[in-house]
Amino acid sequence: MISEKIKNYAARFEEYLSGLIREENEEYSVVAEACRYSLLIGGKRLRPFLIREFYTLCGGQGDHTKNFEAAIEFIHTYSLIHDDLPCMDNDDMRRGKPSCHIKFGEANALLAGDALLTEAFGVASKTEGVPPENVIKAISVLSEFAGINGMIGGQTTDLLFEEKAADEAILSLICRLKTGALIKAACVIGCLLAGAEPEQISAAEEYAEAVGIAFQMVDDILDETGSAEKLGKPVHSDKENDKSTFVSLLGIEECKRRVVALTEEAKASLTVFGDKAKDLSDLADHLCIRDY
Ligand code: IPE
Ligand code: IPE
Ligand code: MG
Ligand code: MG
Ligand code: MG
Repeated sequence: MISEKIKNYAARFEEYLSGLIREENEEYSVVAEACRYSLLIGGKRLRPFLIREFYTLCGGQGDHTKNFEAAIEFIHTYSLIHDDLPCMDNDDMRRGKPSCHIKFGEANALLAGDALLTEAFGVASKTEGVPPENVIKAISVLSEFAGINGMIGGQTTDLLFEEKAADEAILSLICRLKTGALIKAACVIGCLLAGAEPEQISAAEEYAEAVGIAFQMVDDILDETGSAEKLGKPVHSDKENDKSTFVSLLGIEECKRRVVALTEEAKASLTVFGDKAKDLSDLADHLCIRDY
């Protein structure tokens, strides 16, 4: 089952992740501790899993993606630390534990996010076993999709539309960037490291675009109907912050219909890979019905 496969993957991945943050002087160990805390308290590990799956699917051999897997999880975790800050969503729980700023204070949470973002590129650049030109292309994709025209652009637009209603075009932009961008980066990076063909990269992009929007729609649905215990973060955060979401615009039932349709689109985009893409097809289904 795909849910078991991700759990087993997550356990192995976390072992690797746990050795990557090292401080040389104990004077500033608090920032390293805050990084390790937020990285290791949990998480579905979806983005690193996608890198590995697309790498293998495109014929990549050996355990050479682990530094990019770590790098994207560093960037995703930093985005969560900052997203929870009082100046953004002001949420005090994350991954089932007190948010980074609750545990370590705001300044340390800010710095831990900065550190994870910066260290991500160092870790990625230490990739071995794949042609250096593929590594450079993958680093460029990571930067582009995490930056102004990627996740940051999405987070900025998300905040701008707290006080005014967003239409469908704006909501698509927000979802595509704040959440879709890192998911797409993961899929494309897996392909690039494997030296994939252009048609394989296009298929991965289509899959990621559909999964990315669906993933955020499910996140918004769960914010309204889910359990804080299972999610590991507060529910009703979007309402409290007056967020514009697909749920506030279209209602839960229409969102659920769209998630199903997007999941079908995602699965259809995998046809170029044939039967080998079964795990990624099952993953799309699993994300559609998740409750955590
Ligand atoms: C949460 O991402 C933020 C969104 C982009 C919706 P995840 O739901 O992947 O969070 P973790 O990594 O499992 O904690
Ligand atoms: C955040 O979306 C996406 C990020 C880039 C972190 P949300 O604000 O809805 O994510 P959660 O619900 O706090 O995990
Ligand atoms: Mg947010
Ligand atoms: Mg949030
Ligand atoms: Mg949310």
